[in-house]
Amino acid sequence: MLEFDYTALPSHVVFGAGAARDGRLVDAAARLGAHRVLLVAAEADQELAGPIAAALRGRIVGWFSEVRQHVPIEVAQAARAMAAETGADAVISVGGASTTGTAKAIALTTGLPILAVPTTYAGSEVTPVWGLTEKARKTTGTDPQVLPRVVVYDPELTVTLPVGLSVTSGLNALAHCAEAFWAPGRNPITSLIAEEGIRALAQGLPRLAADGHDLDARSRVLYGAWLAGTAFATAGSSVHHKICHVLGGAFDLPHAETHAVVLPYSTALAAPRAPGSDERIAAALAGDGAAAEAIAALADRLNAPRSLRDLGLRAGEMNGAIELVDATLSQLPEPVSRADTEALMRAAYEGTAPMPQVSTR
Ligand SMILES: NC(=O)c1ccc[n+]([C@@H]2O[C@H](COP(=O)([O-])OP(=O)(O)OC[C@H]3O[C@@H](n4cnc5c(N)ncnc54)[C@H](O)[C@@H]3O)[C@@H](O)[C@H]2O)c1
Repeated sequence: MLEFDYTALPSHVVFGAGAARDGRLVDAAARLGAHRVLLVAAEADQELAGPIAAALRGRIVGWFSEVRQHVPIEVAQAARAMAAETGADAVISVGGASTTGTAKAIALTTGLPILAVPTTYAGSEVTPVWGLTEKARKTTGTDPQVLPRVVVYDPELTVTLPVGLSVTSGLNALAHCAEAFWAPGRNPITSLIAEEGIRALAQGLPRLAADGHDLDARSRVLYGAWLAGTAFATAGSSVHHKICHVLGGAFDLPHAETHAVVLPYSTALAAPRAPGSDERIAAALAGDGAAAEAIAALADRLNAPRSLRDLGLRAGEMNGAIELVDATLSQLPEPVSRADTEALMRAAYEGTAPMPQVSTR
């Protein structure tokens, strides 16, 4: 029998090519009551943010550009200080999830509303999850205050994202969708959203990989990324995200690439244990076999990295990596056995074909 608990997260979404540079973003900012805007955009993303700053002229009181991945606490403090000094009443972020994360760090302590303009497929703009790094340790938490109130999705801003990064970022989004089928907060609505997200990503990513300027493909993938972030925000994280978080933190592996490599293996482990999910993920990917095989086939077609070894993890680090991942996965509400963790990690290290795993616990 159906039984679930579902809270929709409030956010106003404006989606469309050109939306960040025509009047739609300015209108959305006005509706938010943003009169004194602190712009957060990395030095490297100036070309994306420049026209937005120009469109908002008169309302920008500061531009914070010291964005760093995983939001070091010093960066958060500097951004908060700029918000206070400039008397900002709103934050507009333009960039990937590292940039959105910097805006979230400001909102966490000030309560300032965020208008987010994402330029990757990471999905942070629709989650209430923040992350901060202090002395090489990343802490994450959930606070409704950091959830952007408005999100403007403009696929034109993603055209400059290199194809390789677009592919891994898109697979990061696919990971949000897949995990939404077995994460603790899953419900029929998150599964529906995730299923449509997978379809959109599977349609758009191969065309994007063939031609990074295909705006229709970029639009499909960005739509899928929104759905992915939305499903993830409610369903929460499980096996897949825990593995990536541990490996990224301990071995400094790149974020989106790690998701891309681990996903076929985490799916091989988790999908067979969550009734119905294997079939639904595989069908949304238009694959014939198991979900993990369909994901691996898509990753191959996209020329995505396929092994932890390719990402720079060394053979001598594997035992330590298995220890750390085991320590996390054994704490899950539905714990994973040491033998399953080890099989998953060894297959992901080599990039061998993912086999649906039968639990040993
Ligand atoms: N809190 C959440 O809900 C959440 C969700 C996903 C990821 N994250 C975090 O976000 C970080 C990763 O974010 P990311 O994958 O979006 O990467 P990122 O924000 O670190 O950006 C990666 C690189 O791409 C560049 N870039 C971004 N958009 C571009 C564009 N359109 N054209 C050209 N270059 C562009 C950036 O300048 C940067 O050099 C990690 O720290 C991860 O933990 C948080």
